[in-house]
Amino acid sequence: MRIYEDPYLLQQQALAWRQAGEEIGLVPTMGALHAGHESLVTRARRENARVVVSIFVNPLQFGPDEDFARYPRPFDQDAGRLTALQVDALFHPSVDQLFPRSFKSAVDPGPLGDRLEGQARPGHFRGVLTAVLKLFELAQPKRAYFGQKDIQQLLLVRQLGRDFALPVHVVACPTVREPDGLALSSRNVYLTAEQRQHAPVIFAALRAAEAAFRTGERDAERLEQLARDRMAAAPGLAVEYVACFDEIGLQRPARAAAGNILATAVKLGSTRLIDNVVLGAGSD
Ligand code: PAF
Repeated sequence: MRIYEDPYLLQQQALAWRQAGEEIGLVPTMGALHAGHESLVTRARRENARVVVSIFVNPLQFGPDEDFARYPRPFDQDAGRLTALQVDALFHPSVDQLFPRSFKSAVDPGPLGDRLEGQARPGHFRGVLTAVLKLFELAQPKRAYFGQKDIQQLLLVRQLGRDFALPVHVVACPTVREPDGLALSSRNVYLTAEQRQHAPVIFAALRAAEAAFRTGERDAERLEQLARDRMAAAPGLAVEYVACFDEIGLQRPARAAAGNILATAVKLGSTRLIDNVVLGAGSD
C-alpha cells in the first residue's frame, strides 16, 4: 500500500490506473477505522481492480462547538488495518493540502442539506459534499462506498452525483453493529461505561418501531413516537429527533411505506450518536 499526502500525486496515479483500464473503488473516511469501515473496504476490494481509502478529518463539516480537535486520529493503527485489507493507496492529506488558503469554492447541498442532521449541524453537509467532490476528482473512482448509518450523507452524495452527472456509482453498505445492536461509530469511544450500557436502546427503539410498521402501523408520527417513548426510559439519553422520511425529498410521508427511513439522533452525555432503519427491511 502506498501512502499519498500530495493530492496531485494521488490524482496522477488514479488517472494512470484509469488509462490502463483499471476501475477504482474509493472509500472516503475520517479514520479511527472500525469493522464498519472494514466492511466498506472489503467490498471495494472485491469489486475493483484498485482501492483507494482516504483518511481526512474534514474541518469543513464540523461546527465550532463540535469535536474536530478531539476526533480520534490513530493513524498508524489505521494504516496497519488498511495494509492488511490490501488497499492500493491510502490518501492522507493535511488540511492545507486539501483545502489551501487559495481554496474558495463550496458545494451547496440545496434544501435537503438543511433538514434533520443539517438542521442540527448547520453547514455540515456543505462541508461533507465539498470534501467528497474533491475526493472524487482526485481519486477518480468508478465506485464510492458509503455506510448506511450516515443515511442523509449517503442520500445527499447520491443527489450530488445525479445533479452533476458524476461518473461514479455510489454504493450503500449496511450498518455494522455490536452484538447488542449499537451501530459502530468512531465516536463510540467517547462513551463512558455507563453510557455504553444504555446505548443499545437506540437501535432497540428503532427496531420496535420497525416491528410495529411490519405489523400494520402506517402512521409516521406514531412510529416516531413509539421509538421516542422507548428511548425515554434510558437514563442520561436525550433524543434530538426521531424522523420518518422518504428517500428522495426527506419528507415525512402521509402514510409510512416500505423503504421509508426511520432515523434518530440522540445525545448520551456530550456524545451525539445517529442511527436509522429502513422500514420493511427487517432489523438492519
Ligand atoms: O462519513 C465520513 O467519514 C465523512 O463525512 C466523509 C464522507 C469522509 C467526508 O468527510
